[in-house]
Amino acid sequence: MLEIIVLAAGRGTRMRSYTPKVLHPLAGKPLVMHVLETARALSPSHIHVVVGHGAEQVSKTVDASDVSTHLQKDQLGTGHAVATALPHCDPDSTVLVLFGDVPLLGTQTLKDLIAQVRGAPVMLAARLDDPTGYGRVIRDADGSFLEVVEQKDGDAAQLAVNEVNTGVLAAPASQLAALLQRVGNDNAQGEYYLPDALGLARGDGLSVAVSVTQDPIEMMGVNDRLQLEQLEREFQQRQAEALMRDGVAIVDRKRLDVRGQLRCGRDVSIDVGVVFEGAVTLEDGVRVGAHCVIRDAHIGAGTDIQPFCHIESARLGSECRIGPYARLRPGTDLGDTARIGNFVETKNARFGIGSKANHLAYIGDSDIGEGSNIGAGTITCNYDGVNKHRTELGDRVFIGSNSTLVAPVSIASDGFVAAGSVVTKTVGDGELAVGRARQRNISGWQRPGKREE
Ligand code: UD1
Ligand code: MG
Repeated sequence: MLEIIVLAAGRGTRMRSYTPKVLHPLAGKPLVMHVLETARALSPSHIHVVVGHGAEQVSKTVDASDVSTHLQKDQLGTGHAVATALPHCDPDSTVLVLFGDVPLLGTQTLKDLIAQVRGAPVMLAARLDDPTGYGRVIRDADGSFLEVVEQKDGDAAQLAVNEVNTGVLAAPASQLAALLQRVGNDNAQGEYYLPDALGLARGDGLSVAVSVTQDPIEMMGVNDRLQLEQLEREFQQRQAEALMRDGVAIVDRKRLDVRGQLRCGRDVSIDVGVVFEGAVTLEDGVRVGAHCVIRDAHIGAGTDIQPFCHIESARLGSECRIGPYARLRPGTDLGDTARIGNFVETKNARFGIGSKANHLAYIGDSDIGEGSNIGAGTITCNYDGVNKHRTELGDRVFIGSNSTLVAPVSIASDGFVAAGSVVTKTVGDGELAVGRARQRNISGWQRPGKREE
């Protein structure tokens, strides 16, 4: 049986933030949620999160039926933190310790580590070009594990070692509990160090297995905003590379951000500076132009999204053309081959097959049939200051430029609205609505002249 303890009580002083460190987002998701996702992939019987700084916020974020939180009132060290959670673990289980601020650990690395727990603790180490700041792994003459020495406690020879403790360890629960009871705080930081339990185990004659990760990025923790940015870029680049291997044409892997889940069909192409958030699906042959932000959307095959579009909670059919500079707000639902052009905003609006609003319009709370054309400058007046009202258009409707459709209003199929109209009344099938002052031409009028002083 496996139980996982996630340490998340630390303050994260170097973030210089009011937000607890483990709640800072990586790819749009709190750091600690990445750790929980990895933890869950190992199918543990339970997950324990040790909380302290910002306990209330952190507890709320991790809340789930397979997670318990345990309050570590004072942060007396990583050993003390683990000891806070251990009494809640089954003594016969294997315990895996993870840090809430180390978000990119691989599931396979952890599976391999856990497999090595045979009656003794095991730890995950890494070799770094610059080991500064980490605990060093000290081995004896024949190369077996002796102890971990922290940066602040090490002598020159120890600090020259470039094999470091990642912080991840696994051990039989009851054994770890007994070891931690013997860990003291007589060290440079006056803290109860978790890795000291490993040194004690070795002192007891147990052989502590050290597994060395091949991918040091995996074990990188976030201590400040520079490291957070570094991990974000690394994570994004890996996602981009995975997409490219799946056949997506990405113009620059360093200029793509996926904060959520992006699913792509074949021959999708994505230009620079695009941000995807939430769950987005791009079907075969979708093209996304530069600098678009697309959140929670389904984009049909062959649809062309031109640069600088903002799309949220929308469904687009196939072969549509959007933008440049279009804003599709939640509830936008476009039929195949629909077109939404520059500076058009839509919200709760359904466009039937082939309908268009090509320039400068606001279409909200509307239902538009097929093959209708909405002219430049058309505004649906959907809000009376209290309630929202709907605008309904049939098929093949033509709305002349600069028209105002005052909802609730409906225009039946083949209806035609003259440019510049204010439409407040139902327009019947095939009718022409002219809702504007008639033009008068006055001949022989006098232009104002300059006033005599
Ligand atoms: C720790 C290790 C070090 C290792 C490094 C890897 C110890 C003593 N040192 O050092 O060997 O190389 O991680 O990143 O373990 N935490 C608590 N309660 C506490 C103290 C810490 O929950 O009382 C949590 C922190 O929120 C953090 C994690 O434990 O998520 C690690 O603590 P941190 O202070 O960052 O340890 P390091 O000094 O980095
Ligand atoms: Mg740290």
